[in-house]
Amino acid sequence: MRITVVGAGYVGLTTGACFAHLGNEVLVVEKIPQKVELLKSGRSPIYEPGLEELLRENIKEGRLRFTSDLREGLEFSEVIFICVGTPQAPDGSADLSQVEEVARETAKLMTSYKLLVEKSTVPVNTHKLVKRTVYRYLKDKSIPYDVASNPEFLREGSAIEDFLKPDRIVVGVESERAKSIFQELYKSFDCPVIYTDPATSELIKHASNSFLAMKISFINMVADLCEKTGADVKLVADGMGYDKRIGRAFLNAGIGYGGSCFPKDVKAFIRMAQDYGLDFGLLKDVEKINQERPVRFLDKIKYVLWSLKDKKVAVWGLSFKPNTDDIREAPSIRIVELLLKEGAYLSLYDPKAMENFKLVFPEGRQVNYAKDMYSAVENASVLLILTEWEEFQKANLQRVKELMELPVIVDGRNIFEKDAMKSMGFEYYAVGR
Ligand code: UDX
Repeated sequence: MRITVVGAGYVGLTTGACFAHLGNEVLVVEKIPQKVELLKSGRSPIYEPGLEELLRENIKEGRLRFTSDLREGLEFSEVIFICVGTPQAPDGSADLSQVEEVARETAKLMTSYKLLVEKSTVPVNTHKLVKRTVYRYLKDKSIPYDVASNPEFLREGSAIEDFLKPDRIVVGVESERAKSIFQELYKSFDCPVIYTDPATSELIKHASNSFLAMKISFINMVADLCEKTGADVKLVADGMGYDKRIGRAFLNAGIGYGGSCFPKDVKAFIRMAQDYGLDFGLLKDVEKINQERPVRFLDKIKYVLWSLKDKKVAVWGLSFKPNTDDIREAPSIRIVELLLKEGAYLSLYDPKAMENFKLVFPEGRQVNYAKDMYSAVENASVLLILTEWEEFQKANLQRVKELMELPVIVDGRNIFEKDAMKSMGFEYYAVGR
């Protein structure tokens, strides 16, 4: 099939590269010309394992192309995946101006049937606004079109795997014509494909993300309770997880959720419910718990070190999760802010995210970026672990101990076993255990 993808962000690039990999012909439309040039040369503007290889392979095979011309995109195919950003507006709602722009410009330029597919996370009933916008700007009102919702559930760091082997595919359509296009598109997938109406589909995506965020805040509160009572949150989560109705996934306690989705989606969900006259208090608490996590983590560091003033603090991990260079809404940002206020000297290290982090915290008197994880800990009074990169889990801890001023670790991601750390001579503090 021929497919047009609008927007070359995480979702757009993964969607484009994976559809091409499955044998389709894909044209990605991206507004920023520099990004198009970079992509044409087979380089990815974002770090995502396996993505660059997939881009190169499919560009070489002639199945994947890039342009900044939407008209070309519309002439190329009848299926238009809208993968533009839906960032947070100042009032917490989703800013849908980029979606509106794609709908408007598509309507002005289209000369034959188009199926517009929302892939970005959008509030329920956005499809109605897309439909209305297309109708308003369509010059020839006799041109048929459909608007569908086909949300993406991919996670950064495992986006390609998530796309190619999803748990389920959700499609919200209103016409048989649109449905048959999706049936053709997804015929090689052997997971459940749920066909429903667009509003339900939009809500499935938004509710799923809010629910997962709720699991994380829930376990983080349980972690606090574990710390007070001497229970072990990891074992509590394991014990709960065996219950099929609960499941073990997303019950890892830590310093809170970050990233481009959960914080924004929870806020937007609360806001959307409010717009419909509903007070989703449960999610307000999910958000509040999450916002308090970095402060709780700092309290722990202060308890351990007593005073942070002029102490050298080593930090491993800045990205909001492993296998990505993304620091959007990363808990590390808030934690670093708090540490700087306390007068600490920071030695930061992350395998991929340091360049992005430097844009928020440039190198300076209190902020230093280390070339590797070992130089980060040299003479440090404490090592903080903020992201569970595999590299850290495989670290030579004997060497770490020798390099540090004091063998103290405060682990925000529970990557080590307490007893093993103790027997190595570390003072080791984890979350909820
Ligand atoms: C999420 C959704 O999982 C995905 O389906 C959706 O399409 C986009 O948003 P992503 O933001 O890439 O994906 O990362 P995810 O793996 O879900 O983690 C989000 C945050 O939650 C990270 O900061 C992570 O560290 C945190 N987290 C996750 C926990 O603190 N504990 C957990 O048990 C799981």
